[in-house]
Amino acid sequence: MRIGVLISGRGSNLQSLIKAQLEGRLSAEIVMVISNVPNAEGLKKAVSSKIPHQVINHNEFANAKEFDDALHKALTSAGAELICLAGFMRILGDGFIAKWPNRIINVHPSLLPSFKGLHTHERALEAGVCFTGCTIHFVRPSVDEGPIILQAVVPTFPDDTAEKLANRVLQQEHVIYPLS
Ligand code: GRF
Repeated sequence: MRIGVLISGRGSNLQSLIKAQLEGRLSAEIVMVISNVPNAEGLKKAVSSKIPHQVINHNEFANAKEFDDALHKALTSAGAELICLAGFMRILGDGFIAKWPNRIINVHPSLLPSFKGLHTHERALEAGVCFTGCTIHFVRPSVDEGPIILQAVVPTFPDDTAEKLANRVLQQEHVIYPLS
């Protein structure tokens, strides 16, 4: 399975996928990394692992569809069969998603269907849940919806901060994404 990874930032999940590939734990090959943000930290991880990478900056397109078309072209040219969203902060259009049926997966930092969207850890602590976690799921046109592939549960603690919780959840994201 040839995979394309889309990122927008730090790229720690990308790093966990690269590490798994290097250690022979990934039943797939990362053939392309695309960032919509120029100079995203995660690009350095592709560079140092000699994985093909490119920037497709959404700001350089007249509209979202043209941006999606450029992504599609780059991914198909690279021979990608599966797309892994790893901290990719753009919403893909319905047309793009339809071209990749059950071929786009995402990592989300909560136990879906709870806490869709942003600021998941702040909201989990505010709600007083005892457990939160992370989810790998297929992507559907509605954001943070779609069949669940894998989840990891992370306990919350009385003295938690969103930052501490985010770090513990992130560690589990790094465990389950390569397993998916
Ligand atoms: C992760 O918490 C992921 O769940 C969310 O965005 C964050 C990306 O982190 N979708 P990184 O860029 O992989 O370090």
